[in-house]
Amino acid sequence: MNYQPLIDAATVAMQHTYSPYSNFPVGAALLLKDGTIIMGTNVENVSFGATNCAERSAIFAAISQGYTKADFVALAVTGKTADPIAPCCICRQVLVEFFEPTSPIILHTTTTNEAKEVTVADLAPYSFKNME
Ligand code: THU
Repeated sequence: MNYQPLIDAATVAMQHTYSPYSNFPVGAALLLKDGTIIMGTNVENVSFGATNCAERSAIFAAISQGYTKADFVALAVTGKTADPIAPCCICRQVLVEFFEPTSPIILHTTTTNEAKEVTVADLAPYSFKNME
């Protein structure tokens, strides 16, 4: 699959960042089964723990708009990093909640334009999945 449109959307989303504390813009884009792409960016807060990462912003926006996890196909994330950006571990836990273990996650950096395709299971191989 050609994930370039998803990477492009993540790069646009990155420009919407609210990151006055870290000055580290991050963009994410979530591909849905109907072809819709939902963008997300990092939204920071003076109380740092209230910050929302780009990946979670995209996922929460999709759920808020009425989509369900059955609609989720893939997610791209980008940032100005030396290597393709790696999602934080809170976001990995949220990815586990809403995607299949085999779902593609595209890691990208705007610095070199390098992209790397991994799966949710690659990012979170031994994750907390249920309370049974
Ligand atoms: N951030 C993301 O949005 N996604 C990640 O995967 C890593 C970190 C944001 C959170 C914060 O606004 C800034 O990057 C610095 O940690």
